[in-house]
Amino acid sequence: MIAPSLLSADFARLADESQRVADADWLHFDVMDAHFVPNLTFGLPVMQAVQAVSPVPLDCHLMIDAPERWAPGYAEAGARNVTVHAEACTDPRAVARDIRAAGALAGLALKPGTPLEPYVEVLRDFDTLLVMTVEPGFGGQEFITEVLPKVRRARELVGTGHLQLFVEVDGGINADTIEQAAEAGADVFVAGSAVYGAADPAEAIAALRKRAAA
Ligand code: DX5
Ligand code: ZN
Repeated sequence: MIAPSLLSADFARLADESQRVADADWLHFDVMDAHFVPNLTFGLPVMQAVQAVSPVPLDCHLMIDAPERWAPGYAEAGARNVTVHAEACTDPRAVARDIRAAGALAGLALKPGTPLEPYVEVLRDFDTLLVMTVEPGFGGQEFITEVLPKVRRARELVGTGHLQLFVEVDGGINADTIEQAAEAGADVFVAGSAVYGAADPAEAIAALRKRAAA
């Protein structure tokens, strides 16, 4: 699945920007609070406005402190998937339960330096594992290749049936890096600048899809 990130879109034209990627699988919505990460983007009211007009289901990535307070609201608003950061949660299982009870898939995100092993059992309660392939906070950064073993390990745990979830990669995904991420076992690919920075976002999505399947 390809999930263009609205972070690289024109914020003054969010409705049009969601239309321009109508053939994507998920529309990635990066919520930043200027605390968990240094940057600040948009929150629940903006998500609700986009949700009302987007032809693509929303994939909300909450880069915020105290995600337990906000995550269920995004699910209630109609998000397909709501992802919280492991580093920001005191009780990830409880957050997953609340997100699922509100009708969305539940995701757990790991920063590049956060190991997977301590979260393997917790991940049995999640539908998505988001492996950050850049430090969260900004679009347009370079893909961190060193994170790929974490993607491989996650795919292995899915392969043995120990985990049942999407393995999503986020950060620095373009026509070159998507092949490595796909080869390592990712099945959801977030791409901000590679899609919205292209002259034709629909064409960029098709090209990424092709490279991921190569
Ligand atoms: C970064 C965000 C990403 C960002 C990716 O903190 O989580 O979703 O939009 O942007 P690119 O694809 O440009 O690296
Ligand atoms: Zn993101």
